[in-house]
Amino acid sequence: MWKKIFSGMQKNDDASDKSYLDELVQDQLPQHVAIIMDGNGRWATGQGLIRTAGHKAGVKTLKRIVKTCTALGMNALTVYAFSTENWKRPHAEVDFLMNLFSEYLAKEIDEMDQDNVKIDFIGRTWELSKGLQKQIADARHRTRDNTGVKFTVAVNYGGQDELLRMVQELAAQSQRGMIKPEEITAEMIEAQLDTYGLPPVDLVIRTSGDMRLSNFLLWQTAYAEFWFTDINWPDFTPEDFGRALYEYCRRDRRFGGLSKK
Ligand code: IPE
Ligand code: IPE
Ligand code: MG
Repeated sequence: MWKKIFSGMQKNDDASDKSYLDELVQDQLPQHVAIIMDGNGRWATGQGLIRTAGHKAGVKTLKRIVKTCTALGMNALTVYAFSTENWKRPHAEVDFLMNLFSEYLAKEIDEMDQDNVKIDFIGRTWELSKGLQKQIADARHRTRDNTGVKFTVAVNYGGQDELLRMVQELAAQSQRGMIKPEEITAEMIEAQLDTYGLPPVDLVIRTSGDMRLSNFLLWQTAYAEFWFTDINWPDFTPEDFGRALYEYCRRDRRFGGLSKK
């Protein structure tokens, strides 16, 4: 069954050995996968194209991966689309990316809704253009009762910014006398994070070779497994995704305890 899912989603059905996919077990799949979709620029410049061509190609990969998550019955997928640091890039690239998010939403919302995907956005979305904010609100509203994959897009998101906002909120509640500092619990912290309601991240995937978090989901990845690949995001296939899941299933997660294997 897995082979069928992945080969159906693939960009090019190559003859590589997919036998490991047969060994994926549904109840061992990660509850929450977080992807740092990196390497669009390098993919483009590597073939003599402008960087923005890489972002465009990256959207196609994203669509395929969301579809794969639906086919697999995955609980939650969170993707890093734009960081609080990405504003440092040239205006033209930032503008292009913002337009691309808007286009992506407009084009894909119907199909995602049909696929029962529940869309959410995390980060400082209130700083985005009014138009994009409206699309975000509409997408959230329209898919809020969907029970399929919880698909969360991090836009203008930074893990440190999220933690800072959480501390400010809890400090304000304390100042108003609603809570005492010593009464603050991990659950209260989580309730203030953008990802409230999502399970902790089980697996972080980062494409294109760099091995860092770049300010993504700092609290949520406390016990996540990491999987890195040199493949640039536009070239990342559902088959590669399947390999990451397969390797995840074989990891020994001890959470500070002792091995159960
Ligand atoms: C990831 O690709 C997309 C965003 C950060 C928006 P990059 O644009 O970072 O591509 P590289 O890392 O420069 O190749
Ligand atoms: C991380 O990629 C952010 C996204 C994928 C949106 P970057 O390309 O911005 O990360 P750095 O600058 O290499 O750490
Ligand atoms: Mg990058």
